Amino acid sequence: MRSRIERVIVTLVKERIDAFLITKAANVRYLSGYSGEDAILFITHKRRFFITDSRYALQARKDTKGFTVKIIKSTLTETVRDLARALKVRRLGFECNDLTHAQHERLVRTLPGTEIVPVSDIIEKLRQIKDAGEIRLIRRSVSILERSLIRFKTMLMPGLTERDLAAELEHFIKASGGEKSSFDIIVASGSNSAFPHARPTNRRIKSNDMVLLDLGVECEGYNSDLTRVFFLGKINPRTKKIYGIVKEANRRSIKAIRPGVEIFKIDEIARGFIRKRGFGAYFGHALGHGIGLEVHESPSISGRNHTVLKPGMVFTIEPAVYLPGRGGIRIEDMVLVTKKGCEVLTDGIYK
Ligand code: GLY
Ligand code: MN
Ligand code: MN
Repeated sequence: MRSRIERVIVTLVKERIDAFLITKAANVRYLSGYSGEDAILFITHKRRFFITDSRYALQARKDTKGFTVKIIKSTLTETVRDLARALKVRRLGFECNDLTHAQHERLVRTLPGTEIVPVSDIIEKLRQIKDAGEIRLIRRSVSILERSLIRFKTMLMPGLTERDLAAELEHFIKASGGEKSSFDIIVASGSNSAFPHARPTNRRIKSNDMVLLDLGVECEGYNSDLTRVFFLGKINPRTKKIYGIVKEANRRSIKAIRPGVEIFKIDEIARGFIRKRGFGAYFGHALGHGIGLEVHESPSISGRNHTVLKPGMVFTIEPAVYLPGRGGIRIEDMVLVTKKGCEVLTDGIYK
């Protein structure tokens, strides 16, 4: 089987791109194994260069295999220019979703004889399909997530603030073998849960509160992402009804996941169900997102995505209903598309 880089090169050849400048950190890591920062790749059809500065020289040599490590002497752009000239690069691809406008202009100015070609999604498309090693790391991340959730459940009681709970979880993740949380932990109680991406506040948990927890764990670069809503005492009947609707939307969309199905159909199953129950106006975001080296990556599980599901894709399913001033319910799971259907990686965790 072709290596990851060989598969990138197939596309470069097709697009007549002589060299490709890879700047996005997750893509650098995916192709080289390098887990640090401030590094880029410069790959041609035959050669592979890893460019960084002296701070990361040691780590680059330790992490990467098959690359010639170049340490920047003056500026990054000049290092790229020297390589492009030495290798007679006529068309140089760059990651147009990553480079800033200023960086792009500098590149164009420094390489007047070279055509600078915008490239997008080549590596992101490869990253959509996880291999066995990636799935193993995602599973490890989910297992720490699972333990963190149990910890959260035992801690959750009136009097603690949202921030207390988030801080304790952050510590627990690190003490349990995770690198860190995948994103700022969301602990949102009462009406705060109506903010889809709430920040933990100093609000104290009250008896009869509902508390939304959205948590992920990073494990050797790979992420997880899960949301559950907990109830401390009595649940008001309207909230209970909405919880049931969101849970059913989650179940129905997951049931439809299998290779060959177009993504927008999965989104519509959950959205259509919530709409029919009268809460369509309160579910604004996409149903989910791919997850791996980044928390949000391709494919987006949205009503506009006509991509066909394939085995090895890993993504979230997170239908929700947010009622401003009252509260929100989101039930988020992670699924792995298998040959015949899908496996819910986060199943059985407080659902
Ligand atoms: N935790 C971010 C998200 O669910 O997308
Ligand atoms: Mn998510
Ligand atoms: Mn989440």
